[in-house]
Amino acid sequence: CGIVGYIGKYDTCKILLDGLKELEYRGYDSAGIAVLNEKNIDVFKAVGKLVNLEEKVNESKSGEYNLGIGHTRWATHGKPTEVNAHPHLGEYSYVVHNGIIENYKELKDELLALGHKFVSQTDTEVIVHLFEHYNNKLKDATKSFKETIKRLEGAYAILLITKDEPEKIFFYKLGSPMIVGKGIEKDEVLFASSDSALIGLASDVVYLDDRVGGVASKENIEFFSQNIVWSKLPTSKQSAQKDGFRYFMEKEIYEQSVVVSDCMLGRIKDSEINFDEIEASILDGINEIKICACGTSYHAGITASYLFERLSKIKCSVEVASEFRYKEPLLTTDTLFVVISQSGETADTLEALKMAKAAGLKTLVICNVDNSSMTRVADATILTRAGIEKGVASTKAFSTQTVVLWMLSLYFAKIRNTIDNQKLQNEINTLREVPKSLKVYENIHEKAKRLSKRYLHGHGFFFIGRDVFYPLALEGALKLKEISYLHAEGYPAGEMKHGPIALADPELFTIALMPKNMLYDKIKSNVEELSARDSTICAISPLDFPLADDFIKINDCEHYMLEFFEILIALQLLSMEISIRLKNDVDMPRNLAKSVTVE
Ligand code: G6P
Repeated sequence: CGIVGYIGKYDTCKILLDGLKELEYRGYDSAGIAVLNEKNIDVFKAVGKLVNLEEKVNESKSGEYNLGIGHTRWATHGKPTEVNAHPHLGEYSYVVHNGIIENYKELKDELLALGHKFVSQTDTEVIVHLFEHYNNKLKDATKSFKETIKRLEGAYAILLITKDEPEKIFFYKLGSPMIVGKGIEKDEVLFASSDSALIGLASDVVYLDDRVGGVASKENIEFFSQNIVWSKLPTSKQSAQKDGFRYFMEKEIYEQSVVVSDCMLGRIKDSEINFDEIEASILDGINEIKICACGTSYHAGITASYLFERLSKIKCSVEVASEFRYKEPLLTTDTLFVVISQSGETADTLEALKMAKAAGLKTLVICNVDNSSMTRVADATILTRAGIEKGVASTKAFSTQTVVLWMLSLYFAKIRNTIDNQKLQNEINTLREVPKSLKVYENIHEKAKRLSKRYLHGHGFFFIGRDVFYPLALEGALKLKEISYLHAEGYPAGEMKHGPIALADPELFTIALMPKNMLYDKIKSNVEELSARDSTICAISPLDFPLADDFIKINDCEHYMLEFFEILIALQLLSMEISIRLKNDVDMPRNLAKSVTVE
């Protein structure tokens, strides 16, 4: 979810709606704003994309407002209905919330017993009732807000307004991100879940730490704690545009070849790999790497585990962050803990990072968003420099993450002396070829478009590959699931015979990742086994494969990692074209959010 807040003399509704537009990637099930002037609070809510809310506000807003709060939702508790959309109302106060109140059932029972009436199924509604419960007793909004916070368990970023103190916004952050800004002009205060919504509006901001809150009016921002650090925000926005492409996802697929060059810039020097952000001493006392991530970033992590073991000769394990958190992991300080995240905000990954840090491990984040929560927690950060990624289905974040991790495995290999100079030079020369392999060639896009119409049904897709092409198969399957809503699985090719092959028939589509430079004969046998059992085969390979029903021919390259990126492009295009034919919303697929800040 994304939240925004504004106090000031300008058009409150417009500023809130513009801010929410910037945050819509965080959730788009429903949205709402509550705005307040001397006389009353007006509330507008709408289900679905933000345009619906915008229409409502423009139709029925009454005059000017001094302040307001807004929210765009990714449903956790309760269906995406108008009643469940934020802001949530008590008798005379409103709240927006990002996160989860874990003890909301107990609190709700307690408040119901006291006579409070609830209208929604959300966990958030308890916050506003709890506040009013205290405020009715204490007749002091600040004290009551503090008492409310004390009772809340879970993760939350909260903004609350009340008719009792109509000049103020109360705020608090624990676990979910929140940024407070001073307006470029005097007497303006702004709030948002991400600084991208504040660029061009706020001059100075505080990235709130956990357990920091306060109360703001147009003259003053009072924090409940000490040690508040203000930083400057750039004044101009570099917001992403579609630049003539049909979808952001399409533009981002095409952009990969360029952003990957940015990602390598200054990091490859002649015959060396160098990262200014980290020191060689990062490996002192390290015998093992543990990677944690979610979704697409997790797939980059698995890819990296092959490279760290193969090139740097360092033991590497990878875990999905939500599993890692609760398995009571054994952590030892000879492990370098690496998290990978496009947004730097994913709640599970952030929590895994905090656990590792608390256990005394050295931590490193590979991230696309500077100043995000993870970059502020980790000991070291390597930015992927992919630029803003808007499409919910991640594309260029993945390719840049993979390149950073590949470079990192070479950097570690050099420090650990596990690679000879000639091999290193060859790898570096290959890295320089990556932009070429990530180019979208017209014939490949055309082929993906043509093939897409044959893959709109069936009882399932198996993407299969070996070695790094196994995580690439996982990523290919995830892309298809995310935007086409078709069932797809990524599988290690050699594992098909241990179960899934039972599913084989002409309606089972096998997307076979068949690079020339990595275990070609092995994967070929696996695909033959599936073909013999009548599965429909779509092969992606530089080498002709007569058994395939469909074939996407990639460029012939001399290194498996170049084939990796060539195949990646084909997979991304195929998913996108299938999704377009199915008339789905490519950039904002149902039920998903770009950045999931709840666990
Ligand atoms: C969400 C997105 C995925 C993304 C995952 C991890 O589920 O929809 O596309 O891969 O979060 O996000 P992160 O920002 O941590 O890479």
